[in-house]
Amino acid sequence: MKYVTAIIKPFKFTEVKEALSAAGVSGVTVSEVSGCGRQKGQTEVYRGAEYASSMLPKIRLEVAVPDSLAEKVAEIIRQHANNDEIGDGKIFVFELAQAVRIRTGEQGDDAL
Ligand SMILES: Nc1ncnc2c1ncn2[C@@H]1O[C@H](COP(=O)(O)OP(=O)(O)OP(=O)(O)O)[C@@H](O)[C@H]1O
Ligand SMILES: [Mg+2]
Repeated sequence: MKYVTAIIKPFKFTEVKEALSAAGVSGVTVSEVSGCGRQKGQTEVYRGAEYASSMLPKIRLEVAVPDSLAEKVAEIIRQHANNDEIGDGKIFVFELAQAVRIRTGEQGDDAL
């Protein structure tokens, strides 16, 4: 299993979430976060306004997937979060050692 985490622009969240659902991803965790990338201190446009701040609002998506789906999920996120602009985000993929579905006790891929 893999744990795919993506930091994306908030306005892209709905589109990315719908694309993941369509691809058969069953669960997702979402958080509102702040972050910065390489352009620290430079301005980035957010909702039409230019932010001078070095920490900008982002959405963090987390998805646990079977190994077979990991590349596809990362590519879906990349395609749908991409706006061809700085700050569009980043995807991090982790090895996932175990998953447990609390209600049933299922483990591994069956728990996803
Ligand atoms: N190396 C990193 N480690 C952890 N989080 C990061 C890292 N790089 C980017 N992020 C997170 O991703 C968000 C978006 O990063 P961003 O897309 O600006 O990356 P970038 O490398 O500056 O690329 P670009 O030049 O396209 O802007 C950041 O606000 C931060 O939350
Ligand atoms: Mg950047």
